Amino acid sequence: MATDDTSDLDKMIEETQASIIKDARDTFSEEVVNRWLNPKNFGKMEDSDGVGRVTGPCGDTMEIFLKVRNDRITSAMYMTQGCGTTIAAGSMVTDLATGKDIKDALKISQEVILDALGGLPDDSKHCALLASNTLKDAIKDYLAYKRDPWKRVYRK
Ligand code: FES
Repeated sequence: MATDDTSDLDKMIEETQASIIKDARDTFSEEVVNRWLNPKNFGKMEDSDGVGRVTGPCGDTMEIFLKVRNDRITSAMYMTQGCGTTIAAGSMVTDLATGKDIKDALKISQEVILDALGGLPDDSKHCALLASNTLKDAIKDYLAYKRDPWKRVYRK
């Protein structure tokens, strides 16, 4: 009997997940859904050269960690407790930033992220802005660290 209950519950969970994913596919681009379900670059980076941390007006927070060599971003990772579109935007902005000179990385705007994601509905566009602002904050932290390594210790 307990096995039947468990398999009923498993089936219900599976059906609910499938329905959430179907709704997401109806609403968002394939790029957004793929990055939400398999978030590339998600996680904390130890020994980063710059960290950005921004909380958006919706209350979601994103952190971005950068590894930089000769002013070129060699690796970028992020963390967020935000929704699926925030997860997708963080994944995209870290991919776009990797390999770029910091001057070019500063040009990764909300619009650039939205384009790369294949767009977002109006009420989710701020997730791309949060990602862009967090990247800029991480670059600012890297530049402060470069000028004076102590500054970063005090700031974070
Ligand atoms: Fe708040 Fe996406 S819902 S940043």
